[in-house]
Amino acid sequence: MSVPEFSHAFREQLQDLFRWRRDVRHFNRDPVPEPVLDDLLRTACLAPSVGLSEPWRFVRVDDPGRRAAVREDFARCNARALADHMGADALNYARLKLAGLDDAPHHLAVLSHPDPTQGRGLGRGTMPQTTTWSTVMAIHTFWLAATAVGVGVGWVSIIDPERIKTVLDVDPALELVAYLCVGYPAQPASTPELERRGWERRAPERREWIQR
Ligand SMILES: Cc1cc2nc3c(=O)[nH]c(=O)nc-3n(C[C@H](O)[C@H](O)[C@H](O)COP(=O)(O)O)c2cc1C
Repeated sequence: MSVPEFSHAFREQLQDLFRWRRDVRHFNRDPVPEPVLDDLLRTACLAPSVGLSEPWRFVRVDDPGRRAAVREDFARCNARALADHMGADALNYARLKLAGLDDAPHHLAVLSHPDPTQGRGLGRGTMPQTTTWSTVMAIHTFWLAATAVGVGVGWVSIIDPERIKTVLDVDPALELVAYLCVGYPAQPASTPELERRGWERRAPERREWIQR
């Protein structure tokens, strides 16, 4: 078996990938070819997981009725979130686009099994949340792999997870971790949309975040 070597040029490009991965909320409507989506999901499953439990479950949401119900739920939750902001902050919040649910050609719900038999419980005794974290690792792997092939991903968390599980008719024991919009970005961006819209800025490098 030959172990791959990662060249300097590759490492530089990998840095670019990390820097250019974006949360995308503006999509063009061209569908992503099915083999590309399949590859991305297979790559996501290469993520590390507690006890090798691989607790992630993916649900493709193609049904127009289900998508409409998700959009409705987002609109309700977003209106509630807006009501929690006051004054100028509310105005700024109202101007944000916090989901690409209308335009994204693909919707993907990512769920996590909280107590999978796979992995035989290893590593979860004192930290049961590790199944959720494993699923987040798979999402991040999917996100980076998607960026590498020009596919954009937008994470929507302004939804009621229990309601969404009902809409999707999934096993109620599963935990909804993410609802992802997937498709080709309308335009590339080198900085987070929240930064471009003046909501928040990336923190400067802070050495005090690393305790020695
Ligand atoms: C757990 C999680 C939940 C998120 N939920 C939302 C969301 O509901 N709506 C949204 O527009 N962006 C959401 N985002 C995207 C973040 O706003 C985005 O990652 C952050 O602003 C940095 O931008 P970047 O991903 O383009 O670097 C979420 C990201 C994460 C990791």
